Amino acid sequence: MKYNIKGVKRLEGIVEISGSKNASLPILAGSILNGGVTKIYNLPDIRDVNTTLEILEILGCSISKKRNKVIIDSSKMNKSEIPENLMRELRSSVILAGAIIGRFKKAVFSYPGGCEIGARPIDLHINNFKKIGINIDENAGYIVCNCDKIKSTEIQLDFPSVGATENLILASVLSDAEIIIKNAAMEPEIIDLQNFLNKMGAKISGAGGSCIKIVGVSRLKEISYTIMPDRIETGTFLSMVAATSGELILNNTNYNNISPVLDKLEESGCNIKREKNKISIVSKKRLKNLDIKTLPYPGFPTDMQSIFLSMLTTAKGTSIIVENIFENRYKCVPELNRMGAKIRIEGNTAIIKGVKRLIGTSVKATDLRGGIALVLAGLVANGNTILENVEYIERGYEKLETKLINIGASIYKER
Ligand code: UD1
Repeated sequence: MKYNIKGVKRLEGIVEISGSKNASLPILAGSILNGGVTKIYNLPDIRDVNTTLEILEILGCSISKKRNKVIIDSSKMNKSEIPENLMRELRSSVILAGAIIGRFKKAVFSYPGGCEIGARPIDLHINNFKKIGINIDENAGYIVCNCDKIKSTEIQLDFPSVGATENLILASVLSDAEIIIKNAAMEPEIIDLQNFLNKMGAKISGAGGSCIKIVGVSRLKEISYTIMPDRIETGTFLSMVAATSGELILNNTNYNNISPVLDKLEESGCNIKREKNKISIVSKKRLKNLDIKTLPYPGFPTDMQSIFLSMLTTAKGTSIIVENIFENRYKCVPELNRMGAKIRIEGNTAIIKGVKRLIGTSVKATDLRGGIALVLAGLVANGNTILENVEYIERGYEKLETKLINIGASIYKER
């Protein structure tokens, strides 16, 4: 599938932000821990979420989904093996392993494999599973986990990995152990997971900070829960409006979760208003150049890096971006350069010499965030941009064309 995008259109209006992709995945995994019914609201209708639901169904859960609400009944769940093909399709399905171990004290899954944005090893997951008492056999690409009892311990993560932090929480919440995770990831999605599990009756504290404590409980109850807004979708629309000198109100979002993005947009010359569940942006002039370094939360998010890179191609002066989290996150650069951008890569640094205009041409998405960066480029380019492989973008953006058309963009999908 392709997008046909016609630039340059000023984006203006109101957009409703969807539920967070990265909060949905661990929360869907956590829904199997109560052995009963969980109702989840504000679930984004995107491919990664639908693949996770498919895996839950294969594991024996019954799923009933209507628009952004899903009811998961895990009472008859009877499998603890994640199918290899789905594991490969969705690398973050590794966090289902923690939840399956939590429920059955055993799990089998395969290596998620290489990835378009970097090697994405799972050593932090595996090594720390071992520390909390999970026995692991690695056999022909399969990881077989068994556990008599989760063991009380204090863990120091070598790196604040989001997935490893979530996996450890999910694996230990149903136990009689007390686990402390130091140097834990501090992302808002981990707070959402903590809030979700605590509503079920878990005893987790400290999420949002670098030290998380899990006091195991023997059972969890049935609940309903509303997923937090997607901060990366929020940042994406803000950047698109910034680059097209537009004006937008974003509803159902939370400005506290994307402070570094808002600060950088202000530094580039945009006016931003922060209100409860709402952000407004006005961009009037050509943007100023920026220097950005991606870091774990609360630093500038790596998931916003490609989008800012694309936004800065038409800013004044030279911008510098340093990518510190994933080693292969500049795959959209050759495509942006085909559109007239002037970006040079040196190691993990991108040097972006601002040009006045990009020119529409045919380009290909190679990953989710790199793909949306090319949508942004298409919106600011003169003429038509044909963007192939939009399936990548559909992994993480709900109703993208509809939302963009509603605020004045010209974009449609074709085969
Ligand atoms: C999550 C997000 C992703 C985001 C990333 C960083 C989800 C579903 N995905 O991914 O959108 O870009 O956080 O904010 O929430 N690492 C290891 N060994 C491990 C685990 C990670 O070396 O066992 C490395 C990774 O290769 C990477 C870094 O740690 O360089 C960060 O990875 P991590 O925080 O685990 O990201 P994910 O949970 O995969």
